[in-house]
Amino acid sequence: MGRHYIELHDTTPVCRGDTRNIYEVAELPGSLVKTIRPERVDMSGHFVGKSGMKRLRLEGCYQGFAREMAEYLILSRRLYAQPGFSLPIAHIYGLVQTDQGTGLVMEKIVGADGELAPTIGRLHAEGRLSDRHRAALDAMFERCRDLHIVLNDIHANNIVYTEERSGRPECVCVDGFGERVLIPIHRWFASVNRRKINRIARDATASLTRAPAQERWGRQ
Ligand SMILES: Nc1ncnc2c1ncn2[C@@H]1O[C@H](COP(=O)(O)OP(=O)(O)OP(=O)(O)O)[C@@H](O)[C@H]1O
Ligand SMILES: [Mg+2]
Repeated sequence: MGRHYIELHDTTPVCRGDTRNIYEVAELPGSLVKTIRPERVDMSGHFVGKSGMKRLRLEGCYQGFAREMAEYLILSRRLYAQPGFSLPIAHIYGLVQTDQGTGLVMEKIVGADGELAPTIGRLHAEGRLSDRHRAALDAMFERCRDLHIVLNDIHANNIVYTEERSGRPECVCVDGFGERVLIPIHRWFASVNRRKINRIARDATASLTRAPAQERWGRQ
């Protein structure tokens, strides 16, 4: 008998990002399984169209998973004395094999209806963004500064809003955390990381007063 793996080919993703399909799997309640969209990956496991130096990255299409897991493990080490710690990023539960490659199992953040919590981008696009959401976003950035969490690829659809997770209004980063640069200066220096988060928060404030657009925050 072969090794058990999760079959997703007949399942419709509950959500799709630019690079990932997001699945709910009955045997993993309270979790989501993120896979890399198969049409974006070639048979060597690299993103289609990536060439040269980019192919030297040994994790290939899984580099984002590696980055997020490394950040989670660094936080796990720092918070070792606080079992059951809670973070302003979605918790990572592990990896599973699926028929669409390896999947990242992650805490599912839900809204009051039990469905996936809305992103800040969706609330903005629907004209529902209020001071309550903005305050929760500021509080999320402040917790990231305090906990020295590295954020790299942050835009309005990588952050969701919920009141169900802790019973309080809360923003949670579900994608785009972990160090991206080769020399991990944000991981090494909390002051450098704070400045980066300040830039992200500044761009978030400006972006959320304009018409909705897919803008990456903190890139300048
Ligand atoms: N842990 C989570 N809890 C609730 N919703 C989530 C979670 N993770 C992802 N989502 C939803 O799925 C969408 C896509 O997920 P994700 O951002 O991980 O995919 P992606 O392809 O990497 O995105 P990008 O377009 O930023 O590259 C998110 O915008 C969000 O709506
Ligand atoms: Mg995303």
